[in-house]
Amino acid sequence: MLPSIPTDVYGLYDGLKFWERWHVKLRWRLCPFLQIAGYIPEAARIVDIGCGRGLLANYLALNSSSREVTGIDKQEKRIEAARASIKGRDNIRFYLRDVLELHHQEFDVIVVSDMLHHLTYPQQEKLLRHCYRILPAGGILLVEDVSEKPKWKWFAHFLIDRFLNLGRRQYYRKIDDWISYLESLGFEVKSFDAHRHIPLPDFLLKCGKGEHIL
Ligand SMILES: C[S@@+](CC[C@H](N)C(=O)[O-])C[C@H]1O[C@@H](n2cnc3c(N)ncnc32)[C@H](O)[C@@H]1O
Repeated sequence: MLPSIPTDVYGLYDGLKFWERWHVKLRWRLCPFLQIAGYIPEAARIVDIGCGRGLLANYLALNSSSREVTGIDKQEKRIEAARASIKGRDNIRFYLRDVLELHHQEFDVIVVSDMLHHLTYPQQEKLLRHCYRILPAGGILLVEDVSEKPKWKWFAHFLIDRFLNLGRRQYYRKIDDWISYLESLGFEVKSFDAHRHIPLPDFLLKCGKGEHIL
């Protein structure tokens, strides 16, 4: 069974148009947000890079007032929707920003979910180097992206991404290549499947800065 969106998260999006609310529900079902959230401590400074409308960011903030959550995205409409969802809470904020122009700000946990393959290869590396730099020792980077296996799921994802991003290229890598690159930066990396109930081949990498912290 695919998880349905928690009512407290969905309720934050009551001002959106019908199709946007439908997309919010669908996104929750397709993305392994609960799995990602399972690796995030109750008290932490968290940034969700390429946060879209802020679904995961909102879930994390609602579930612990000891979390300080920041979401960043470069699409104005998405950040507008994310900001409208704050509704007076003070442990969450959203910024309209290009993640390739981030300043130095320290976070304990960085989440990059379903966004790296929208950046070119040099941009991916620039962003991951930046993530390593801004994490303190013991910090965690969580990367969720698209695996090349199983092939039929990869193909399903490829068709959907092509349709949703007409005219824009996506930049996929094999999981082993992601892992080698992240290890070359100094991360300790563990990989997990994140696609059990869906036709999309998602994987999740938990990357720790420092030795033996995973
Ligand atoms: C497929 S969506 C994923 C959204 C969210 N992470 C989720 O899992 O629902 C990819 C997001 O990355 C954002 N994005 C892509 N390139 C970006 C950049 N250079 N700076 C900031 N956001 C970016 C897009 O605007 C989009 O909202």
